[in-house]
Amino acid sequence: MIIGGSASQSLASQVAIELNDKLCSLETKKFPDGERYLRIKEDIPEDEKVIIVQSTGYPQDENMMELFFILDTLSDMNITDITVVSPYLGYSRQERRFKEVECISAKATARLIQTFGVKRLISVNLHEDSICELYDIPVDNLSAMPAIAEHIKETFEVKPVILAPDKGAQNFAKEIATILDTDYDYLEKVRLSPEVVETKTKNISVQDKSVVIIDDIISTGGTIVNAIEILKEQGAVSVDVFCVHPVLVNDAVLKINAAGAKSVQATNSLKSDVSVISLAKTIANHLKAL
Ligand code: R5P
Repeated sequence: MIIGGSASQSLASQVAIELNDKLCSLETKKFPDGERYLRIKEDIPEDEKVIIVQSTGYPQDENMMELFFILDTLSDMNITDITVVSPYLGYSRQERRFKEVECISAKATARLIQTFGVKRLISVNLHEDSICELYDIPVDNLSAMPAIAEHIKETFEVKPVILAPDKGAQNFAKEIATILDTDYDYLEKVRLSPEVVETKTKNISVQDKSVVIIDDIISTGGTIVNAIEILKEQGAVSVDVFCVHPVLVNDAVLKINAAGAKSVQATNSLKSDVSVISLAKTIANHLKAL
């Protein structure tokens, strides 16, 4: 039985189709004061394996609270075999303490999710691998790169160079480039003098090349805008932008397009205008293999 939370209804439906599983319908609404109501509209046998698909991005608190309501209701129904699939796991950006007595919100979230007896958590390109260690249950951190690579293969006539906007994202570029059998690189800051810092590609030239930028998250778009400007200066003929999680704060897409991107595309870990790559097969294949 697949339960799709409000934040991931289409993805949950697609996963159910891939697995040939039943999709459970929910009744959700908001009271006038903003509090949420939830009812599970199906009879679920106690021994049923239940998979909840619910990303917990913006509005994080509402989506997280809805997940807890689903989990608590399932627990009242004596259902114990529960897997949570949260392709974008909210509150993952603070997984350690930078200043004294800060709340480690990723840890608080982990504690809460586990309170309801969840057996396994599945997510996609978690912001840090170390988030898995905050849980006592198995956490599977799937990669969206094969799905993104497949999409590039299907939609590009010429193999692009795959570029990470910084060193931290170079493994994403490497993973896609390996699948597509093409070149990859990342942008690196080089200090030319005490006053002058230049950002350029580490190993290869992008002159006259079609370039794909890949990052895990696009939030304000600042990182990508900077990368596009550098790549254009260095002679790239086109720049298409891909990410896993389209957080897209305010006018991020507009800023990226205005900087000269040919396209902005993302997975459906979060709902957005650019969420064109489905993670359904990635998630379903993983669930089948468990
Ligand atoms: C950073 O660690 C991430 O990989 C992204 O590069 C970052 O979240 C992008 O943020 P923004 O879009 O605000 O530049």
